[in-house]
Amino acid sequence: MPHDFMPGLAGVPAAKSAISDVDGDRGLLEYRGIRVEELCDRSSYLETTYLLLFGRLPSPQQLAKWNEDVIGHRRLKYMIVDLMKCLPDQGHPMDALQAAVAALGMFYPGRHVKSEDNNYWSAVRLVAKLPTIVAAWARLRHGDEVIVPRDDLGFSENFLYMLTESEPPPLWSAVFDDCLILHAEHTMNASTFTGMVTASTLADPYTVVASAIGALKGPLHGGANEEVVQMLRDIGTVERVRSYVDEKIRRKDKLMGFGHRVYKVKDPRAVVLQRLCERLFQESGPSPLYEIAMKLEQVAGESLNAKGIYPNVDFYSGIVYDKMGIDIDLFTPVFAISRVSGWLAHWLEQLRENKLFRPDQIYAGDHNRPYIPIDQR
Ligand code: CMC
Repeated sequence: MPHDFMPGLAGVPAAKSAISDVDGDRGLLEYRGIRVEELCDRSSYLETTYLLLFGRLPSPQQLAKWNEDVIGHRRLKYMIVDLMKCLPDQGHPMDALQAAVAALGMFYPGRHVKSEDNNYWSAVRLVAKLPTIVAAWARLRHGDEVIVPRDDLGFSENFLYMLTESEPPPLWSAVFDDCLILHAEHTMNASTFTGMVTASTLADPYTVVASAIGALKGPLHGGANEEVVQMLRDIGTVERVRSYVDEKIRRKDKLMGFGHRVYKVKDPRAVVLQRLCERLFQESGPSPLYEIAMKLEQVAGESLNAKGIYPNVDFYSGIVYDKMGIDIDLFTPVFAISRVSGWLAHWLEQLRENKLFRPDQIYAGDHNRPYIPIDQR
């Protein structure tokens, strides 16, 4: 069989999908054909989740039921909370999230992936419970009590409430909801592909999501948002930006939050996130990180824009979360509580015409080597 080897499978289609589309040259992102900017302006995260999973915007009755089903499944079994209490409090929240999601699969019957009804309830549970797990871990690791979800609060409002036990300002909930919309889905990225490979074995959805969480964690993928805020804090002042960028470029280091495999212009999500930063700072006061970030975008652009390298989604998202007082190591788990809807949409799509992922390799090793007994090596 002839092989065109593409490292990182760059540009190799791995599936046909009707869930989302990216135009990397024009900087466009659509979910089920609808531009993300329009969803941010007019939709909510939960409605967008429905759109991604089921392929159409819900009717008012469908949305009410979806909302009710999600609200009804936000709570965690006490054994899941007990399990998290046994994890080391210095551990990374992504590891705690992955462990808890994998454990969910032992409590719920997710194995019968041929049952549409079963799959619906698995999707409801995963969308509903991930925020509760992340918030519970954020509390437990500081020795604080877990705050149970409140049924009268919306999805984003409830998550922010579960972190602090105080109701967030309405603008924060609205901005956070838009952040969730922007992170919900992004075609064939590393974590989605990981989830699809697991799904193709007909493993249960909790395992699919746990494996996708593992891939999202890395600094080249979802972990970049943490590193961006760390970088901005290290730079410290606007005056230090130029020397920092010059040094990075000289050493051929990558600037976190810049560059994308598909976008060759500024990521449309970064454009919306920048607007969200400005809305947030108007009401809640400025962020010194934002000033540094804007200068960094300008200075880095002088060398990198010509290579098609611009800010990506991770560049401005951490600044929003930082302003809301969310711990830096929770940024990637926040990404996961949103991206779970994209992972689940691909899982359901994969099951419809499943074929086990089993790629090929180009063997580059030896043949016919003799076995040397241990006492002669
Ligand atoms: N800073 C400086 N130079 C860069 C950067 C960057 N962030 N990204 C790419 N380049 C350069 C790279 O050095 C190389 O230059 P040359 O051709 O001269 O050797 C060229 O651009 C191609 O880089 P690549 O790493 O081969 O390209 P890729 O398509 O594999 O990279 C990427 C995509 C996202 C891994 C990369 O841009 C990167 O590492 N960015 C920093 C990490 C980051 O922000 N990740 C979040 C990605 S978006 C959200 C998500 O997927 O979760």
